[in-house]
Amino acid sequence: MDNFTYRDGQLFAEDVALADLADDVGTPFFCYSSATMVRHYRVLADAFHGLDTRIFYAVKANSNLAVIRTLSREGAGADVVSEGEIRRALAAGVAPDAIVFSGVGKTQSEMAMAIEAGVLLFNVESEPELNALSEVAASRNATVDMAIRINPDVDAGTPDKISTGRKGDKFGIAWPEARSVYVDAAKMPGINVAGVACHIGSQILDLTPYKSAFEIAAGAVSALREDGHTITRLDLGGGLGVPYDNEVPPSPADYGKMVRNICGDLGVTIMLEPGRVLVANAGVFVMRVIYVKETPGGTFYVVDGAMNDLVRPTLYDAHHTIIPVTEPLESAPLKAVDVVGPICESGDILAQNRDMPPVVAGDLLAMRTAGAYGAVMSSTYNSRLLVPEVLVKDGNHAIVRARPSYDDLWRDEHMPDWCGD
Ligand code: LLP
Repeated sequence: MDNFTYRDGQLFAEDVALADLADDVGTPFFCYSSATMVRHYRVLADAFHGLDTRIFYAVKANSNLAVIRTLSREGAGADVVSEGEIRRALAAGVAPDAIVFSGVGKTQSEMAMAIEAGVLLFNVESEPELNALSEVAASRNATVDMAIRINPDVDAGTPDKISTGRKGDKFGIAWPEARSVYVDAAKMPGINVAGVACHIGSQILDLTPYKSAFEIAAGAVSALREDGHTITRLDLGGGLGVPYDNEVPPSPADYGKMVRNICGDLGVTIMLEPGRVLVANAGVFVMRVIYVKETPGGTFYVVDGAMNDLVRPTLYDAHHTIIPVTEPLESAPLKAVDVVGPICESGDILAQNRDMPPVVAGDLLAMRTAGAYGAVMSSTYNSRLLVPEVLVKDGNHAIVRARPSYDDLWRDEHMPDWCGD
């Protein structure tokens, strides 16, 4: 469910016509709907109603300050994986004690910064990291709440590059091996053992792997209590999938029910770290057709958006539905085409062999489900400018990240003397 719909033949974001936005900000651009984000947040929160639960939005999915603020005003905290994300969450107005610091490679300086800021919880992923955290905390006379991210060795059935809960993945500490690490942690200065964390992957479309992982995590809570630890938090990570095409992900209600069944009686605060499910379908990526190129090998719609703006199709062979901003006639003949960007790589493909209605140069196309892992993964490859992000609310819109200037592109580059004048 989202708020991008055709009205009188034109695609709207809430009450704003995307064609008007294109005139205003130029193409390509990302457009996000506040109403969709808020609704998704509320549906997820409702699924956990009555359970001691806290939602920490995984900022990596879309770290625009206005997006973080929109969700934090609904009650979300922030799940972060870098100093930059901590700073963003704080800048967006998230309270320090509503921030969870995750990630497999936190540096000591990031730990120090997070301790100074007063984040709620560190999710630790290895023994060396635990040692470092103890050292940094103790040297500041601080004691930090810590959970170990356990690796339950569960295959989430997602694409390889975004699966995180298998033994061979770089994430977490294997369970039950982590049990002895907790024993060590409890003796370490600066460390307060507070919880168990677990995140098995992203774009998960089936509750079965979740159930296996959560049963292991719940078992870990009980085992650790038997060992004498005080476990008050269980962080179940994120990963709930969304429909990009015709997938049918588990509903938040079913997900909530499953969590309730497995963890409802544990007497812990359940923490969730959703990213994609909150923002993916709240965003579209709007681009303009530059050329329609016919070749003996096929038809290419060459557009002004590219892999540097939205890398998911290139990186993961991900499917994003592409629709014309002007609604095509129902009778429009569909033809298999490639939608490609201007970047000098054959991999710069936004959609391959996709049945599309006819378009002409100048037409606008919208790639759906672009609110998560879109703008945040973009680059300036080929010296293309980062594209603007626009947030819509009802009939209003705001440019929440402006298109930079070309001067901005090399503002921080310097010419050494020996290169001459
Ligand atoms: N918590 C942790 C510890 C994570 O590593 C992630 C995502 C999340 C929460 C949020 O997961 P979500 O609810 O969004 O699935 N760039 C990839 C996705 C990478 C996900 C990385 N971790 C993509 O475009 O599909």
